[in-house]
Amino acid sequence: MENFLFDVPTRVQFGKEKTNELSSEIKKYGKRVLLAYGGGFIKKTGLYDNIVNQFNNNGISFFELPGIKPNPRLSSVHEGIRLCLENDVDLVLAVGGGSVLDCCKAIAAGVPYEGDVWDFTGDKEVEAALPVGCVLTLAATGSEMNGNSVISKEETLEKKAIKSPLLKPKFSILDPALTFSVNQWQTAAGTVDIMSHVFEQYLVPDKGAFLLDRMSEAILKTCIKYGPVAVENPDNYEARSNLLWASTLALNGLLTQGKENGDWSTHLIEHEVSAIYDLTHGAGLAILFPNWMKYVNESEMTWKFAEYGRNVWNINEGSDADIAEKAIEETRNFFTKLGMPATLSDVDIPDEKIKEMASKSVENGSIGYTKELNKEDVEKILEMSK
Ligand code: NZQ
Ligand code: ZN
Repeated sequence: MENFLFDVPTRVQFGKEKTNELSSEIKKYGKRVLLAYGGGFIKKTGLYDNIVNQFNNNGISFFELPGIKPNPRLSSVHEGIRLCLENDVDLVLAVGGGSVLDCCKAIAAGVPYEGDVWDFTGDKEVEAALPVGCVLTLAATGSEMNGNSVISKEETLEKKAIKSPLLKPKFSILDPALTFSVNQWQTAAGTVDIMSHVFEQYLVPDKGAFLLDRMSEAILKTCIKYGPVAVENPDNYEARSNLLWASTLALNGLLTQGKENGDWSTHLIEHEVSAIYDLTHGAGLAILFPNWMKYVNESEMTWKFAEYGRNVWNINEGSDADIAEKAIEETRNFFTKLGMPATLSDVDIPDEKIKEMASKSVENGSIGYTKELNKEDVEKILEMSK
């Protein structure tokens, strides 16, 4: 294993009724909060009223940023920064899924910065940020315990990440019951996203990270067991709780510590697709990932795909090459069983922008660690996906 520093300062409050801990978590940072949320499910489910009552009972002032869209827009980030500055906010609180949380992280980075927060998607490093906390409502991104924020810029149809340890949430409240109301499509997409985060870190050439690979397989099996249960029975607490903790563990840094790298090319390609077509992130990954697997399953990586087939899908018959191929097929079948699309045309995305998406994916040079991909490689993966 490689050397590492694992430093995640996020306090995780996991379980039923944990939203009741919100005020005491917030008060460690102050009493003026930006309350950010999305399109309104938090009002329908009563979560909003619960939080507002708590704030009123605990002397917490709040300023609202509603309407944050999936694939959160830079304009919402700017609006949030303005609200924080005008109201001298102490903490940015996200109530929602990864999009709301990512928007809040970007706001937190933008408040103490004089330039445009979009600069942080390039070389500029975040040097200071407001504290961020969240009440997470969807199992998917792992944003609840990492320092990433993925933001879309409307005018240029770009979708890029800001990354900084300063953006790791100070606390994350994870009550699986809050995810009961997530619909079938988002539940399936979230499950695919969790699995994809594992794939990016597991399907790599490193051989010495036995422990990390077994942890990765455990998370994949958890998604395979409980994803379909949650899609069919949204109120199943066992399924929702396992998926929620899987989402956190899949992308809080744990699975890469001790490895040289993750691959992440499928994520970069997907971000170009959803930047242009505003597709649900997990649905884009469901289309692309099995095709990336086919594309990089070459002789020197086949042992890894075969290991995945044996340990995750219990495929034991045949050569490594046979098992690897079947494992990739199982992955596609599983995504289809969850109700996810298999091609870009399934979600009405035409093939006319494949070249553009491929060039944008590699605009900073070739991508990928498992296999280095150039523009032509990405184009081929997108062609396989159309
Ligand atoms: O609009 P609202 O009303 O908020 O409804 C949301 C939204 O429409 C709904 N939802 C969330 N919780 C719900 C619920 N509906 C009913 N009941 C609940 N409990 O679900 C819809 C999708 O929400 P969103 O936040 O967009 O989903 P997700 O958590 O999958 O986040 C996706 C975003 O995160 C980025 C993606 O690219 C995408 O922009 N990612 C962030 C990462 C990170 N920060 O580390 C890593 C990921 O790879 C990913 O790129
Ligand atoms: Zn993802």
